[in-house]
Amino acid sequence: MIVTLANWKGGVGKTTLAYHIAHYLAEQGENVLAVDLDPQGSLTYTMIGKFSHGVVNFFLKERPISQCVTNISGRLSLLGGAEDTGDLRAWFQVTGRGFESLEKLRQIAPGRAWIVIDTSPSQAVNMDGKIMDPLNASALYQSDYVLCPAQPEQLSLVGLAVMVDSIAALRKAGSDVQFMGVIPTMYDIRNAEHPMHLKRLIAEYGKLVFPGVPDAIDVARSPAFGQPVWEFAASGKAAILGENIGFVKVVAEKRYDEILGLHIVGPHATELIGVGSAALAGELTVEELSRTILAHPTLHETIHEAAEGVHGMTIHI
Ligand SMILES: Nc1ncnc2c1ncn2[C@@H]1O[C@H](COP(=O)(O)OP(=O)(O)OP(=O)(O)O)[C@@H](O)[C@H]1O
Ligand SMILES: [Mg+2]
Repeated sequence: MIVTLANWKGGVGKTTLAYHIAHYLAEQGENVLAVDLDPQGSLTYTMIGKFSHGVVNFFLKERPISQCVTNISGRLSLLGGAEDTGDLRAWFQVTGRGFESLEKLRQIAPGRAWIVIDTSPSQAVNMDGKIMDPLNASALYQSDYVLCPAQPEQLSLVGLAVMVDSIAALRKAGSDVQFMGVIPTMYDIRNAEHPMHLKRLIAEYGKLVFPGVPDAIDVARSPAFGQPVWEFAASGKAAILGENIGFVKVVAEKRYDEILGLHIVGPHATELIGVGSAALAGELTVEELSRTILAHPTLHETIHEAAEGVHGMTIHI
């Protein structure tokens, strides 16, 4: 399945969503390849902290895919880019071979349940079916679905309409691509315009409007720490303190559910050790620790959450 994130308008959250969707699918056990087709290379830099020539090496220099991808985690890999991805766009412009070239994505799709493509903000195809950005047009052409993030603001919604027109034009040109829907992003209830535009969006696209992503600093910050927001912001107190990096792990044995030890890593770890040692001294089972009340919002809750995680019962991760 090839899903492309696209909106003609810039800064609407395409890269941030591509990052999170790719991580989410991989966590669900899917094999995922994230592809960065934006010459700004934002998704690449976000995922690996540097740029990559993967896209050019794969599509222009025709190197094997295994030499072009970077492994991010067990199930998630990245075909990364850099500014030379712009050369690919120029090459498509000159040769008109974009649709054909990006068909290579279909060849590598088997074995990868999902390919998630991030694109640059530009108009792929105009109303008359003329290709405006051959790189984006080719990505859309070869996709199964296009998902459009859009801020509930005038220009983002114009960008969304432009994208929907592009999809229609590409379908006329022979593509099977479908509009998956729109994800409202950076929704801010304090902004009087947002509810109004959201209503417009729902009136126009109905069930194709997905639940939105609020305007939240943790959504913006988490990728820089190599984590999706649900891990980064799992502890409310850590978010309040602005010290989100760290983890708690409960090590237990299966037969009696007995706690064998805890790993506590991060700021204020020393404050948390007491709860862990009390649990060990009392020979608590994981279930007993899960039932112990640890107030909200506190960092101690992370121990509670980790204990629940032993039985796959975490709430915030
Ligand atoms: N839900 C959110 N809440 C707050 N900030 C967000 C959210 N989503 C994205 N951002 C921030 O908004 C900015 C734009 O997001 P992002 O880069 O994902 O947009 P984009 O559509 O990919 O932009 P471009 O068109 O330049 O590629 C970034 O600084 C990002 O960290
Ligand atoms: Mg982007």
